Amino acid sequence: RRICQDPATHQPLAYLRLRRAIRNIVEHRDIEPGQALPSERDLSQALKLSRVTVRKAIAGLVEEGLLTQRHGAGTFIAERIVKPMSRLTSFTEDLHERGLHPRSEFFERGIGEVTPEESMALNLSPGSLVVRLHRVRYGQDEPLAIERSVVPASVLPDPLLVHDSLYEALEKLNARPRRALQRLRAVSLNAQQARLLHVAVGSAGLSIERRSFLDDGRVVEFTCSWYRGDIYDFVAELQTD
Ligand code: GLP
Repeated sequence: RRICQDPATHQPLAYLRLRRAIRNIVEHRDIEPGQALPSERDLSQALKLSRVTVRKAIAGLVEEGLLTQRHGAGTFIAERIVKPMSRLTSFTEDLHERGLHPRSEFFERGIGEVTPEESMALNLSPGSLVVRLHRVRYGQDEPLAIERSVVPASVLPDPLLVHDSLYEALEKLNARPRRALQRLRAVSLNAQQARLLHVAVGSAGLSIERRSFLDDGRVVEFTCSWYRGDIYDFVAELQTD
């Protein structure tokens, strides 16, 4: 196992290094989701680290959602995809972080005149052009979400610049969003959505609307997504005022 080859030593950074080693296991899928991590004892012996250090690193990753713990049974690589809500990341980045291979199937990837509703969402004047993307997002060939994105053509001039990741294309155009407002709502998936996501009609889903902005305040995207409720956990860190 990768982690057992890591020559971590007793250093002040041992805790962080161990966390990185465990994160690598998850990202490289050396241990599959749902499977157990070696015991704290084995990890601490293999890495010559104190049990306290190992326990702290594991606790940090449980909090981040990469690992889960079942009382008395041990620590496992989490099966659900845990998405921190405060980080402005892309679907592609979220999946890579979990060692999953992302893929998009496009139903629409075109350019057209903005509709009244889109012009409100994107702060565009009537007659402006927008790029529309409608796709099913897969991880490891399993459908995870449906997304409809609208992007001003002044930001993204050609829909074919998006091969798989919208944010990658925006990054290349120096138009990666810097801030976003996101709204989550529980929904039950209709027949068409359920078919695309390979779940039963009426299954729980999360409808997510994201408006992303550039530094200068321009809206970069208005995206409506439907994520599978049986796979995703959205987690936010809360602080008092
Ligand atoms: C998430 C967001 C979308 C965003 C997408 C970009 O799924 N909910 O608003 O458009 O990420 O992901 P990618 O760069 O993989 O296309």
